[in-house]
Amino acid sequence: MRTESITERLDTAVATLERHGQAHLTDGLESVGTSDLESFVTQVESIDFAEIATLTSVGASAGSIPEDLQPAPVIPRHPEGEDGFRAAGEAMIRRGEIAAFTVAGGQGTRLGWNGPKGTFPSTPITGKPLFRVFAEQLNAIDERYEIETPWYLMTSPLNDAATRAFFKDNNHFGRNPASLLLFPQGVMPAVDDHGRILLEAPGVIAVSPDGHGGSLRALARSGALDHAASRGVRHLSYFQVDNPTVHAIDPLFIGLHATHPASSGEMSSKMVPKIAAGEKVGVFCSVAGRTQVIEYSDLPTEHANATTEDGSLRFIAGSIAIHVLAVDFIGRVTSEKSETSMPFHHARKKVPFWNPENRETVVPTEPNGTKFEMFVFDALEFVKKGLVYETDRVEEFAPIKNADGGDSAESSGRLQTERAARWMESAGLKIARNDDGTVNGRIEITSATALAAADLAGQLCPEFSPGGDLLF
Ligand code: UD1
Repeated sequence: MRTESITERLDTAVATLERHGQAHLTDGLESVGTSDLESFVTQVESIDFAEIATLTSVGASAGSIPEDLQPAPVIPRHPEGEDGFRAAGEAMIRRGEIAAFTVAGGQGTRLGWNGPKGTFPSTPITGKPLFRVFAEQLNAIDERYEIETPWYLMTSPLNDAATRAFFKDNNHFGRNPASLLLFPQGVMPAVDDHGRILLEAPGVIAVSPDGHGGSLRALARSGALDHAASRGVRHLSYFQVDNPTVHAIDPLFIGLHATHPASSGEMSSKMVPKIAAGEKVGVFCSVAGRTQVIEYSDLPTEHANATTEDGSLRFIAGSIAIHVLAVDFIGRVTSEKSETSMPFHHARKKVPFWNPENRETVVPTEPNGTKFEMFVFDALEFVKKGLVYETDRVEEFAPIKNADGGDSAESSGRLQTERAARWMESAGLKIARNDDGTVNGRIEITSATALAAADLAGQLCPEFSPGGDLLF
């Protein structure tokens, strides 16, 4: 409980702003009512001004490219001992050591969807929202292993209320609310080119979500890490909200992460081979024996285009943003005593701001400010042995990021149909295909029917009529 009055807190806040050269944030404050004044003071109290000063000092941005950059070693698909690793992962799932962790704090600007991205219709026939797709997978996993998988879901202050309402309206898709923890990620102030924090309106500081790398400290601050530890959860299966084909909990990947000699059991990642040099995915690299992801926008063109003797891309391991992270490891990285801290990346953006001279909001047409984001893969810097495992693109990478074209609902729907067709073909069924090899029609398989191709073996599958829709 705070004991100071709002006036005392305001005095302290103003002194802090003056000390850090940010006194302009009090512009227009005289016109602000009491409750807005309180939220302004709370905003000021939550900002680490020393951190902002460091970030805005010259050359502080993360993302510089090390000289000795090598492609990361990758564990191929169907690795030696596959069955043993899968069995190890299954045993951990059965013992309740694994929780699901979804990052859903992004603003989905490229998708143009008016609501949290997880509410977006994603499956090819029934248009199930992404959140439902993940929930149904977890329901099927719980039934199979006779467990109740905790599900941690990171929102942002901008979509937290809408996300909670969506889950409530849908009866949490059958999940037990005691094992479903939603929490918002942190925010960071945006600054102008002189390191001055921007004001969105009188008494309102311009802030934005601190990136999916903020998910680690949000897990700690929200109590989700303690929740995990109290349930005996040892590892989190991390995935982004935009990928409906993710295997939310993958026994083989978990087994590799926890028991393969190339892994220190701290943080492991999945990759798919890039299809083109310019594909917009991060790339797994190795620097002095440590795994690292270089984001597509940071990878120098000569590296992106470099090929090996057989003509394939040298830096080929594309990140699909699926990881397993140990709870202990997250605790260590986020601990206040920790020597380690996640770096911030700087993004030049158009940030609307309030101009005290004419008391108007300016919506810039050119980037005028910098936002700060952390990336979860930067945690690899603190990992002794970060295993990277190759998976199949059709099997688990069909992201929905754009309104149309590549990585859209349409392209994802086609991939989902293709995956379902392959599963059925592997069970011995015949699927009608067009001359170009694509499936002639649409197929949607629910998680209750199958979580992977092997689950269809021996099942009675319905027949697929060419040009039709098959849902089962
Ligand atoms: C991301 C990865 C890229 C990877 C690709 C695979 C980054 C910087 N890049 O690219 O390496 O190859 O996915 O699909 O991550 N999110 C939050 N809070 C935030 C920002 C994002 O929760 O503050 C979540 C989003 O909801 C989304 C995910 O993070 O689930 C990805 O964010 P996005 O900005 O769309 O990354 P991409 O550019 O698609």
